[in-house]
Amino acid sequence: MASAIEALYRRVLKPILFRVEAETAHQLALAFLSAMPPLPIAPDPPELGQTLWKLPFANPVGLAAGMDKDARAVDAWQVMGFGFAELGTITPRSQVGNPAPRMWRIPEHRALINRLGFPSEGMEAVAVRLRRLRSRGVRLRLGLNFGPNRDTPPERVFDDYRALMKRLAPMADFVVINLSSPNTPGLRGWQAPDQMGRLFGALLAPFPGVDARADASSRPPILLKIAPDLDASQIASICEVASEMRLDGIVATNTTLARAAVGVRSTLEGGLSGQPLREPARAVIREIYQRTRGALPIIGVGGVASAADAWEHIRAGASLVELYTGLVYEGPGLAGAIKTGLADFLRREGLDSIAQAVGTAA
Ligand code: FNR
Repeated sequence: MASAIEALYRRVLKPILFRVEAETAHQLALAFLSAMPPLPIAPDPPELGQTLWKLPFANPVGLAAGMDKDARAVDAWQVMGFGFAELGTITPRSQVGNPAPRMWRIPEHRALINRLGFPSEGMEAVAVRLRRLRSRGVRLRLGLNFGPNRDTPPERVFDDYRALMKRLAPMADFVVINLSSPNTPGLRGWQAPDQMGRLFGALLAPFPGVDARADASSRPPILLKIAPDLDASQIASICEVASEMRLDGIVATNTTLARAAVGVRSTLEGGLSGQPLREPARAVIREIYQRTRGALPIIGVGGVASAADAWEHIRAGASLVELYTGLVYEGPGLAGAIKTGLADFLRREGLDSIAQAVGTAA
């Protein structure tokens, strides 16, 4: 089944989609996928299952943020075999993002560059959709990725994150605080340790409904999403603050601003994703795993387009992996193919579960 879908995508759909401008193709695909009925899915092999933050994950392959910013195609992600989906980035108020064109393919590198700048329907629209999904019994694990509105002044960024937490955290399996998009001016500055300390201090301060530090069971796990463009000492301080603040995990990484350093020649501004990001992202995963001695779960993302890519991210220290650009180049059979490949790797290594592979190459 997965290989038939893959062939259909490669031979028919991809040539059509790749003839259309990148963001338009994305919107067409998403419109199609949002009409997908909730088809029954086969259970995953038990060895791919894992419990993190007291939540069972049926498999470790997730959809990365940005593909489905407004929770429009959740049934489709489940049908494709993903174990979870990270939706967003969601901003408090709706906003259109940067002027187009703002997304490009770099086929020779199996990469994308984007400077979308968080187009979002806003948290109310997403809340309505999520409530409907949950009342229909959609079971896919959902992470919600939060970001501030572009016109929010720096001193009010706290308020944006708190508003998002209050409105949406009760509907999330986990929350991701995005401090790493290169396309929202000033956002990456919050990754500096003192800024991060202040932000999470404010974010986790008690407020009705989501009293984060007082009672961890009353809120979903909170993860931080970081950039790949950080050196070892910056990663070390982020890990320190994350453990001081008792964050639940790190999503590594977002897109990169690097070009020549990852072998890409392009003057397009924005974040680069896909194959050129794979090694830098893996290096960040490994660095976090070593720094935290595996105590902080990592969601590894960047350049995953095969089972081997996912396996090596896991061996570098990721408990879960996510992908976006790989889906564009490889098509809707990718999650299924990765799961089959991961089960093969486990068998070959004589391991009983995916959790045993985490960090074995760190
Ligand atoms: C992204 N990504 C992203 N990340 C995020 O935290 N919030 C977002 O809104 C977006 N938006 C977005 C749009 C587009 C077009 C792309 C290609 C990517 C980053 C994404 O989640 C992921 O971290 C990187 O793309 C690296 O993974 P891949 O694409 O190499 O698998």
